[in-house]
Amino acid sequence: MLYAQRRMSGIDHAALDRLRAAAEEAAARAYAPYSQFLVGAALLFDDGVIVTGCNVENVSYGLTSCAERNALFRAISERGAGQKIVAIAVANRNGAASSPCGACRQVMSEFVTPNAVVCFPGEHGPETCSFAELFPHSFRFKKQEGNE
Ligand code: THU
Repeated sequence: MLYAQRRMSGIDHAALDRLRAAAEEAAARAYAPYSQFLVGAALLFDDGVIVTGCNVENVSYGLTSCAERNALFRAISERGAGQKIVAIAVANRNGAASSPCGACRQVMSEFVTPNAVVCFPGEHGPETCSFAELFPHSFRFKKQEGNE
């Protein structure tokens, strides 16, 4: 698969293809009766382990949880937060371009380093970039002096 790539460090194309395939497989399990938009996400850790998630919708709409966040929360629940994530792939079963939403980017920024590779369906096939390119100005909380 050809990737419209900006920068891709630390992961080769074969590994990224496998990660995308895992995201696509996860998308098949999406619970999306309201939008019919089936999304899957796959996280690759530096020890080779892949953890996946899919979107899970709710009749209230607002309680819907995206594939990316579900994959991350599942991974933290199963593995803790200490293991490094080197790449994230997102896929959908609708043939649509879709990059991770803003809420998911902020959640990713808690656990993903700036040079992690992110791959998502672009307008002309899979697109890759670093997490820093995807989300350059994430919110960071810095404790102020004397503000305990
Ligand atoms: N969705 C995701 O799972 N990930 C995204 O990055 C964007 C949107 C889901 C949420 C909802 O179930 C459906 O796609 C339509 O917005």
